[in-house]
Amino acid sequence: MLDLNDPQLVGQSTPDPLRYAFARKHGAHAGSDSEVVPGSQVQTALQQALDGAGQPGDTRCLYVHIPFCRVRCSYCNFFQYASSQSLIDQYFDALCREIRHKAAQPWSQAAPFQAVYIGGGTPTDLSATQLQQLGQMLRQHFPLAPDCEITLEGRVNGFDRAKFESALAGGFNRFSFGVQSFNSQVRRAARRLDDGDVVMRRIQEIVAYNSAPIVIDLLYGLPHQSLEVWQQDLADYLESGAHGVDLYQLIDMQGLPMHRQVEQGKLPPPADTATKATMFEQGVRFMAIHHQRRLSINHWARDNRERSLYNSLAKTTAEILPLGAGGGGNVAGLQMMQTRKMEDYLDAIHAERYPVPMLLRAPAGQALQGHIKAAFDHGVLSRRALERVAGDDLYPTLLPLFRAWQDNGLVTLEPDYLVLTLAGQFWSVTLAQNLIRSVITLRSEHQAA
Ligand SMILES: C[S@@+](CC[C@H](N)C(=O)[O-])C[C@H]1O[C@@H](n2cnc3c(N)ncnc32)[C@H](O)[C@@H]1O
Ligand code: SF4
Repeated sequence: MLDLNDPQLVGQSTPDPLRYAFARKHGAHAGSDSEVVPGSQVQTALQQALDGAGQPGDTRCLYVHIPFCRVRCSYCNFFQYASSQSLIDQYFDALCREIRHKAAQPWSQAAPFQAVYIGGGTPTDLSATQLQQLGQMLRQHFPLAPDCEITLEGRVNGFDRAKFESALAGGFNRFSFGVQSFNSQVRRAARRLDDGDVVMRRIQEIVAYNSAPIVIDLLYGLPHQSLEVWQQDLADYLESGAHGVDLYQLIDMQGLPMHRQVEQGKLPPPADTATKATMFEQGVRFMAIHHQRRLSINHWARDNRERSLYNSLAKTTAEILPLGAGGGGNVAGLQMMQTRKMEDYLDAIHAERYPVPMLLRAPAGQALQGHIKAAFDHGVLSRRALERVAGDDLYPTLLPLFRAWQDNGLVTLEPDYLVLTLAGQFWSVTLAQNLIRSVITLRSEHQAA
């Protein structure tokens, strides 16, 4: 039985659910427990998976991780290694070996890949030659779909003409730049390289090539980023001409450099949850006023050039083959995280071992969980689609929970659809996590009965 009086499940009953339905946002992903593969079986289990052909019609993506940045931004938890040319070169060499080895596995050749994402860190810190080589190697060794989206993530600092042209020559056909804020005071406090006007000019120049969709990330809730500054950041997105934008709320974690600076009184505190909710509302309104097309809760596109294929596939049941130190993915029912430790990664690649210290067997309901996460990221859960994935009539069992959410202003129940309100959108990850946990509870009770 679900406890529909538990505010952590159904939210607080408050006149202002956008700001106060839950205490604070949890981590970025909704998830659940999986079974750990014992360490001694990791290599064999992975090899078995990659010896198979997978299921016909499976959707596949590649994720390549480049764990270097020139400077660590004060709010960032993705930073791993400071860019040093010799370490990058050593890493790149190992990555090329890994690409050849993984691409040669039967699983990799069995079906086309729909999207490739080179993430980090700052992949744009690779040299022009490396960028071109990386793109070419991936296209040469893996069977990529003819309309495969191949994204290069990074920042505009140091991403000059030569690099951009090499990346295009290598086959990259989408670019995602972390901007975070165009405001120079906010940027300096966050230790971002370049002032806002420099970043604006550079994005405009890259867009003017008219060769690929250019999308940017903006963060809200950073120190010094008032509501006025945020409004200007939104306007600056439009002025930049970028084809799309992700609006991310700042996740403030213990251990971030920013956290220490705030404690030492060197930085004003970042926005609290209620203020971030206001900033989210501001963002949603702004995009609606300016007729930006909404692709998900946090992502908008200016026109049809931006497809955001990787992001939407990665949130569903697509399989993701990871490459590089710190890359994560899931293949043939196995979930893996590659080691973040550079030495271990280099050793494993040179010994032709998979650099995977931790392997999980996906839980039985993984497809259903993927579906729930994707639906909440989209803002709508369809009864029919849910029941098709669940294989049974789950929706009526969940209706009491959905009604409680509706009473608390988080969702609207339409015939056959659960639609997130603005408040529900802000709390979408929490709601998806709560729904996944509820399904697990109800199913285990059903099995026990
Ligand atoms: C891994 S970073 C790579 C982008 C690139 N290195 C850059 O910063 O320009 C991807 C995105 O994660 C987001 N991010 C980083 N730290 C975050 C945090 N503490 N909370 C929320 N989002 C964060 C930023 O918006 C960033 O653009
Ligand atoms: S935000 Fe980007 S550039 Fe800054 S530390 Fe994180 S990954 Fe590196």
